[in-house]
Amino acid sequence: MERKVVDKILDEIDYEFARKSPPDSFPNLPRIPSERYLDEEQYQAELELFKTSWLIAGTENEFREVGSYKVMDRWGGASVVIVKGEDDKIRAFWNVCQHRGGPVVEGESGILKSPNMRCLIHSWVYDLEGKLKGVPGRRDFHNDMDESCMTLKAVQCDTWQGFVWINLNASAVSLKEWFGSIYDEVTWFDGLRAASHGSLVLECNWKVAIEANIEVYHVTTVHPETVSQSLDYRGSAHSLLNNGHSRMVVPKKDYDANAAREAVGKAEHPEHGLMEHANISYLLFPNHLTPGSKRAGAAPSITLQLFWPLDINRTLSEWYTMIPDWGEDELPEETKMGSVYFRQVMDEDTEMLDQIQKAMQSQVLDGFLTSYHERRIYHHESSIDRLLGDNVSEELRVAQLLPVENVE
Ligand code: FES
Ligand SMILES: [Fe+2]
Repeated sequence: MERKVVDKILDEIDYEFARKSPPDSFPNLPRIPSERYLDEEQYQAELELFKTSWLIAGTENEFREVGSYKVMDRWGGASVVIVKGEDDKIRAFWNVCQHRGGPVVEGESGILKSPNMRCLIHSWVYDLEGKLKGVPGRRDFHNDMDESCMTLKAVQCDTWQGFVWINLNASAVSLKEWFGSIYDEVTWFDGLRAASHGSLVLECNWKVAIEANIEVYHVTTVHPETVSQSLDYRGSAHSLLNNGHSRMVVPKKDYDANAAREAVGKAEHPEHGLMEHANISYLLFPNHLTPGSKRAGAAPSITLQLFWPLDINRTLSEWYTMIPDWGEDELPEETKMGSVYFRQVMDEDTEMLDQIQKAMQSQVLDGFLTSYHERRIYHHESSIDRLLGDNVSEELRVAQLLPVENVE
């Protein structure tokens, strides 16, 4: 993160603590219609966003060896296999054999014994670049069958900051273009490894789940013994970015502006100094949250939160506590405590989401009211409309009222 960006965030934190009302220029946002969380057509249109956005498929350290693979299928369609090739490049393919659609790897992850993927149905063999290499019983197929046209269908795959990303849309913009300014400002994800993983099925729409987690207004009431012991929501500095992304910097409890500035001035990476005094979290559109911070003398760590639509009223919430790779050593003891803590935070966050969904279903809530502090929620919804364009029915659209910092 450039020093001038960090300095701007520090100024924003000061401003946020001091203000007595929203800025004069801030619009009186209309309610976000409840139907946006209930309408089946809207939901189906939003599912397409998962097929056109860059999604995390894991970390590079999950693919240590040639033939390391992982299967991913969070979008209710065919699965994708991500595999490390003999040239050490990580690639992604639809896990769909070109004979009659069987899976070409077994289970959820592993290391291929030979550097090949072998279909589980009739054993067609593909190399790690997806080329068809062997057809048992070849004599039964027509002489004119052209094996060179039967490669596994590729899925866009890239790596950034130690994470492996895929995009199901063959003509999607590059990962760098998708993330815009975030691409260069994030420096602390690289080398992290998942120390623990948890998940919950939530009885609410996927956006209800995410939007409950992109404001910190709720922490005083919902997390009195956990998050509110460590963060002070009143100083939160938000940035609304292009392609639906956003950033939130929440100062730690008893934030000291001078100490924060001093830490920034001393740090090799100014953002790491900031992280000693504040938590930085991105919404990487559509469904990744990355709250993270650091202690003085330690490396930054994050909790990666993911939200996957299961149906219009049900969402899979997943989280990974991510810490610097600990190699072959025992997992550090404090990490185990951190996992228990985060599970408690997630239980607190999600306990009442089904009631919010029911409130909307019962037609007794006209929609979400969002304050200045909660503007990331409005931004999430208005970004969905920008990305879906005419695929959002007119009655459900939200007005485009909030400026975006780096418009595509
Ligand atoms: S479906 Fe894969 S070999 Fe037949
Ligand atoms: Fe929370």
